Amino acid sequence: MTTISSSAFPKDFVWGVATSAFQIEGAADADGKGPSIWDDFCRIPGAIQDASDGRVACDHYQRWEADLDLIAGLGVAAYRFSVSWPRVQPLGSGAFNEAGFAFYERLVDGMLARGLKPYLTLNHWDLPSNLQAQGGWQNRDTVQHFVAYASEVARRLGDRVASICTHNEPWVVAVLGHEVGNFAPGIKSRAAAIQVAHHLFLSHGMALTAMRAQGCKADMGIVLNLSPIDAASDSEADRAAARRADGGGLRWYVEALLKGEYPADVLADLGADAPKVMPGDMEKIKVPMDFLGINYYMRSVVSAGQPWDVKTSGHEITDMGWEVYPQGLADLLLRLHRDYSLPPIYITENGAAFPDQVVDGQVHDARRQAYIENHIAALADAMRQGVRVDGYFVWSLLDNFEWSSGYAKRFGIVRVDYDTQQRTLKDSALWYRDFLAAQKKRGV
Ligand code: FCB
Repeated sequence: MTTISSSAFPKDFVWGVATSAFQIEGAADADGKGPSIWDDFCRIPGAIQDASDGRVACDHYQRWEADLDLIAGLGVAAYRFSVSWPRVQPLGSGAFNEAGFAFYERLVDGMLARGLKPYLTLNHWDLPSNLQAQGGWQNRDTVQHFVAYASEVARRLGDRVASICTHNEPWVVAVLGHEVGNFAPGIKSRAAAIQVAHHLFLSHGMALTAMRAQGCKADMGIVLNLSPIDAASDSEADRAAARRADGGGLRWYVEALLKGEYPADVLADLGADAPKVMPGDMEKIKVPMDFLGINYYMRSVVSAGQPWDVKTSGHEITDMGWEVYPQGLADLLLRLHRDYSLPPIYITENGAAFPDQVVDGQVHDARRQAYIENHIAALADAMRQGVRVDGYFVWSLLDNFEWSSGYAKRFGIVRVDYDTQQRTLKDSALWYRDFLAAQKKRGV
C-alpha cells in the first residue's frame, strides 16, 4: 500500500463523504413527496438486479440526525448530499412542498451545527415523474423548470451551503438513461441521449446565471464522471474506438462546459443524431464555474465494437466489475490540466463496491481501504505535478441503493444492515477517520 506524504495536501483541503437522496432517504411518498423516474423505473420487472426499490433504502429521512453524528464523528469537513427534486416540488413545476423543504432546512442546519460544510447537488437523477410524462430531459421546457427549481433551492438554502452542483454525471443521465436504457427513464435512442445532454448543459449554465443573479454566494459547478480511456491495442481500429469513446465520454462534456463548443469529430460521428442547438445556447452553457467536480472510479480500456467495455488487464476488479486503477486518477487530472483551462477541481466521488462480511460485528474491508488510500496517493501525485484540487469525497458514506444493482453492491465505508438499519463503521471508515485526524495533527 502506498504511503501518503504528510505535505501532500494543503491545510484547507476539503475532505468529505458523499451520498445522494434517492439512494439513502427512503420515505418515497412521505410528507407530500411526488414520485420520481427512479420510483417508476424500479417497478419495471427486471430493471433492478435484486428487484428492490428506494422506498425505504437507508431510512435516512428518519435517521438523518444520527447519520450526521456519524459523519461528524469521522472528522470530515464536508458532506456532499443531494436534494430530491420531487420532495421539494412534487410535480417538477408549480407548487413547492413546504414539508420537503423543511427536511433539507433541518439537514443543512444540522450540518452547520456539527461544523460540516454542506455540498449540495440539485440533480442526482431523480427527476419528477410528471416532467418525464412531458418528455423529461428530452423536452426543452424541462430546462426552464430546472432553473426555477434551482432558484428556489438557492433562495432557501443558498446562504448556508458551501457549494451547489447542478447535475451529477450528465453522461449517466444521457447515455445510460436514454441510449443504453439500463437506468431511468430506460429509453434507447442515441439521438435522445445527445439532446438530453444538451438540455442538461443548458439548464446547468442557465441555473448558475439565475442563482448568481439572486445574489447566491455559494460556489457553483457541475459534477462529471470521467475516465482516462486507453485503446486495448495499437491497432488503428482500437485507437479509433478509443478516440470515439474519449470524444463522446469526456470531450463532449468538458468542451461544452468549459469552451462552449462541441468537438467537431464527435459532431461528425453523430451525423443526423447531432443535437438541436438554438442560437445563444453555447454562450449560456459556458458560464464560468467556481469548480468542476470529478467522479473517478476506473479507467476505460476500449476496443473496436466495445465502446464501453472495461477490460480486466490483469488488475484487481471490484464487485461492479470495474478495474482498480488508481494511476488513472493522476493520468486523468494531468491530461485535463494539460488540455484545458480548468476551474478548481474537486474529486466529488471515489470508492468501491466489494462483497463485505461481518465478523464479530466488524467489517474488515481491506480492499476498500486500500482502494481509497491508493487513490488518495494518486491524487497527491497529480497535485504535486501542478493540478489544483480543492477537495476529495469518498463514495459512499453508507451502503445504499446502487441503482440498477439494487442493494446487492455495497459501496459504504459504513455498513447498513437493511433489516435493522443498524450502521457499523467498516475498517475503511476507521482508517479514513484516523487518516484525517493525522492530517489535522500535522497541521500542514
Ligand atoms: C456514480 C453515482 C453514484 C454511485 C456511484 C457508484 O456513478 O454518481 O450515485 O452510484 O456511481
